[in-house]
Amino acid sequence: MSEAAPPGAAAERAAFLSSELARHGHAYYALDAPTVPDAEYDRLFRELQDLEESHPTLKSADSPTRRVGAPPQAGFATVVHRTPMLSLANAFDEADLEAFDKRVREGLGEVEVAYAVELKFDGLALSLSYENGVLTGAATRGDGATGEDVTANVRTIASIPLRLSTADPPALLEVRGEALLFKEDFAALNRRQAEAGEKQFVNPRNAAAGSLRQLDSRISARRPLRFFAYGCGAIEGAALPATHAQMLDWFATLGLPVCELRAVAEGAAGLARFHQAIGAKRPSLPYDIDGVVYKVNRLDWQRELGFVSRAPRFAVAHKFPAEEELTVVTDIEVQVGRTGAITPVARLKPVFVGGVTVTNATLHNEDEVRRKDVWRRDTVVVRRAGDVIPEVMIVSSRGPRTPADFFVMPVHCPVCGSDVVREEGEVAHRCSGGLYCAAQVKQALLHFAQRRAMDIEGLGDKLVEQLVDAERVRTPADLYRLAESDLLALERMAEKSARNVLEAIATSRHTTLERFIFALGIRHVGEATARDLARSFGALDPLMSADCARLEQVHDVGPVVAASIEGFFRQPHNREVIEQLRAAGLAWAEGPPQLRPAGLLTGKTFVLTGSLPTLSRDQAKQALEARGAKVASAVSKKTDYVVAGEEAGAKLARAVEIGIAVIDEAGLKALLENT
Ligand code: IVH
Repeated sequence: MSEAAPPGAAAERAAFLSSELARHGHAYYALDAPTVPDAEYDRLFRELQDLEESHPTLKSADSPTRRVGAPPQAGFATVVHRTPMLSLANAFDEADLEAFDKRVREGLGEVEVAYAVELKFDGLALSLSYENGVLTGAATRGDGATGEDVTANVRTIASIPLRLSTADPPALLEVRGEALLFKEDFAALNRRQAEAGEKQFVNPRNAAAGSLRQLDSRISARRPLRFFAYGCGAIEGAALPATHAQMLDWFATLGLPVCELRAVAEGAAGLARFHQAIGAKRPSLPYDIDGVVYKVNRLDWQRELGFVSRAPRFAVAHKFPAEEELTVVTDIEVQVGRTGAITPVARLKPVFVGGVTVTNATLHNEDEVRRKDVWRRDTVVVRRAGDVIPEVMIVSSRGPRTPADFFVMPVHCPVCGSDVVREEGEVAHRCSGGLYCAAQVKQALLHFAQRRAMDIEGLGDKLVEQLVDAERVRTPADLYRLAESDLLALERMAEKSARNVLEAIATSRHTTLERFIFALGIRHVGEATARDLARSFGALDPLMSADCARLEQVHDVGPVVAASIEGFFRQPHNREVIEQLRAAGLAWAEGPPQLRPAGLLTGKTFVLTGSLPTLSRDQAKQALEARGAKVASAVSKKTDYVVAGEEAGAKLARAVEIGIAVIDEAGLKALLENT
């Protein structure tokens, strides 16, 4: 037990645990190469925590246990930076680069100058003070001369060493670098914030800033901040190497995280090449950068060049186009996608962001509009990163917000006028005019013509594209009115292929009811459901006029599918196209409705829950359905039997609650044998 341990042994053990934890922590966070399993790390950690609790004097400034955070502080103390934290001048194009390189060479009286080139991290600048190798302070940049003391929070950043890994540390080393959140950690943090009903952050930078400035470092400890060192402030008791690149190499040997994406380049052309190479990598980097930085590599030359006002003459930031900008939402409209999904889109006052002028940004769906509370005439932050479609992030300031500025999802499709529906559990609204809607026509035609539907050979992507764009075809019914001359008018259409396509269209007139139903492209109606519908109804007219209750009698048709079918046939435009198709001579055999084989279980509804000892769920389902029973997924008053296996949970409880008969596998087998 640690409490009984004599102080000498306890101190030794604590020192050992500290160094072991620091070593494993460095391997895990900085090198991405864990040296022990997490559980072992946790054990060592707890042992050290216990030791420190019983011997508080053992808790050193660099103890790994400090990483869990300290209780809240009233505010941040002010720190005067030993050497000021400056900013960088910006370069935007090659002319700026050439001017920079020329100035540097002239300033030094040199012909060639090598530059250390690295990333410009989009986070927050930090200054870390190591005294005799131990992290004793950390401060934000503040106004450059004074910053805020964020030592408690910085101690929670796992990749920042609390002690430098050297036997011979400088008396003082001020490490300058950037604190940031990786993109995936940011996304996870926002997910957690959303789940907890708390405010979400706009971007990783803001989240990093929020985390660093937490007065309660236990909260920071839960936000996985990272750090990259890129410079040196004051140094005492050691000499720096000759170049910036060597200095960063040295930092890495001390256990400080240094980004690998760095190099040494020469001449404006060399700098431009680095900028371009990193620009191409930017979208796939795990963190945000807003440019690259070029620094004269020789540190003596850096000192010789010195500073002008608040920026060094020896360095410049070469920016990438900003990925976020402010602009005004001029309108919120909806767009109908190829599959009928209706997406709210913000029309924007044109803004240059992510390297292009953006005039529209997606708002994804109605819930998102509400969550972000975007109204017309609001000023918003728009983000365009890489090739990702521009997105409205947050409202920056509200517009006048009259009732007309409020977005309401239309009840009719703006393209075809059909009903807009939103299915239970879905976030998207959809147009239900699949056969007629011009926004969906290409998709609808391809679906209609596919082999498993109307089987019109030769009517593929390209031809559909041409026919629709040339306005020869508006709905599937128009296919049957095409003349050879219509096809020959299209680019690169030979007489022979035109004739073949027309013949395929003509042949497709003779089809089956199930193929035709599938060809209509009703949401949730795949081939199997189309077959069941065809069998159950025997003819098209009764299917078209069936209500949900009747539809739900069909095998495998639940409330969602039934609502989709009923909704589809209710649209006048869809019915119109179907009439035109029939008028064009589409024909199939019709017959009497084929009700399912009247097994003894016909009309009985079963719910399966838990795992059965010998039967798989599918086997049980098939056996029941073969005897005419229906297998539903939820228990309701309409359920006749619940078949409960092992680990049956809520469904079983519900069955008992509302008094539904519950049987086990043996009971089920007995039922099956007798029916
Ligand atoms: S060097 C004396 N290097 O950019 C030079 N800064 O405008 C001081 N930054 O607030 C900065 N990545 O936080 C330097 N590789 C990098 C950087 C970098 C990001 C930030 C830094 C500072 C701002 C300078």
